[in-house]
Amino acid sequence: MKSKEIAPGAVLFNRALTPEHFLLALSLTPSFARPVPGQFVMIRPEGVGPQLLSRPFSLYGYRGRRDGSRIELLYRTIGAGTRQLAALKAGESVEILGPLGRGFTLGPDVDEVILLAGGMGVAPLTFFAERLGRTKAPPRVVCYFGARIRDELIGLDRLSPLCSELHIATEDGSCGERGVITDLFAARMRRHDPRRAAIYACGPNPMLQTLSRILAGTSLRCQVSVEERMACGIGACLCCATAVAMPGRQVSYRRVCCDGPVFNLRDLIWDMTPDHSDSRGCTSP
Ligand SMILES: Cc1cc2nc3c(=O)[nH]c(=O)nc-3n(C[C@H](O)[C@H](O)[C@H](O)COP(=O)(O)OP(=O)(O)OC[C@H]3O[C@@H](n4cnc5c(N)ncnc54)[C@H](O)[C@@H]3O)c2cc1C
Ligand code: FES
Repeated sequence: MKSKEIAPGAVLFNRALTPEHFLLALSLTPSFARPVPGQFVMIRPEGVGPQLLSRPFSLYGYRGRRDGSRIELLYRTIGAGTRQLAALKAGESVEILGPLGRGFTLGPDVDEVILLAGGMGVAPLTFFAERLGRTKAPPRVVCYFGARIRDELIGLDRLSPLCSELHIATEDGSCGERGVITDLFAARMRRHDPRRAAIYACGPNPMLQTLSRILAGTSLRCQVSVEERMACGIGACLCCATAVAMPGRQVSYRRVCCDGPVFNLRDLIWDMTPDHSDSRGCTSP
């Protein structure tokens, strides 16, 4: 795709994993660029008209071929846009813009990757783990995955074989430890060597905010994929602005859609950024 053009995509399948969670596979033209894990697409069903804006979703899977590429999205239905996506049938068309934004980066000195996933935050982190597994010297992958209940540990089967260690927490204790995933991580944090390890986190913003408090006073590196409401997805409307710290205690604003969605956790200022709740599907303190 010549980077910022809306293109058609054809639904290969749109599988219900639970009544609320879906795996959508799309076939795209060969011009869709190879995405970096952490990048996202803006998508809506074709022909819905101006009353429904496209919605942002992280890439969950990608396969590029000469005759076209195939992408996968993992999503939870929460409102009008996701309900319309859930109604899509094989063979129907979508309008898609992407890949967009900046994805995760791996430093040369990192040989342990810690994934911290809350709810649907598992989508970009699974894609990242898959990509890491194909590098020449794959790092060790330790994953912490949390959800409200066992049935919301969506994508566990795909994630599990990609990890050297997998730690699970559910808020009702129906799988793994009882409680939120940030507590489980905090209890084990000292086992990770800050000189070798880096954290990659994605989940509802309250989870990331808690993580930021846990990491204060440590030197563990951490990149997070941030969630904001988006309208254009390409930096034009400014509705996704988030506050970031600048040298000299100055504050500046960055557009999550094009300066992010992946940021260094320590650059973000949470109390100046609106809280947009938990649309990725997991509550957190
Ligand atoms: C970069 C990025 C990647 C994302 N990746 C995924 C993904 O892989 N899987 C997935 O299930 N979801 C993902 N989301 C969230 C997804 O975009 C929203 O769930 C979706 O836009 C909701 O649309 P809707 O029309 O169904 O809900 P709406 O009717 O628009 O909203 C319903 C409720 O959800 C809240 N809400 C809607 N969108 C957001 C948002 N972006 N952030 C916070 N709260 C919101 C609203 O305030 C409202 O309370 C991602 C969001 C971003 C920004
Ligand atoms: S969504 Fe329009 S500037 Fe980010």
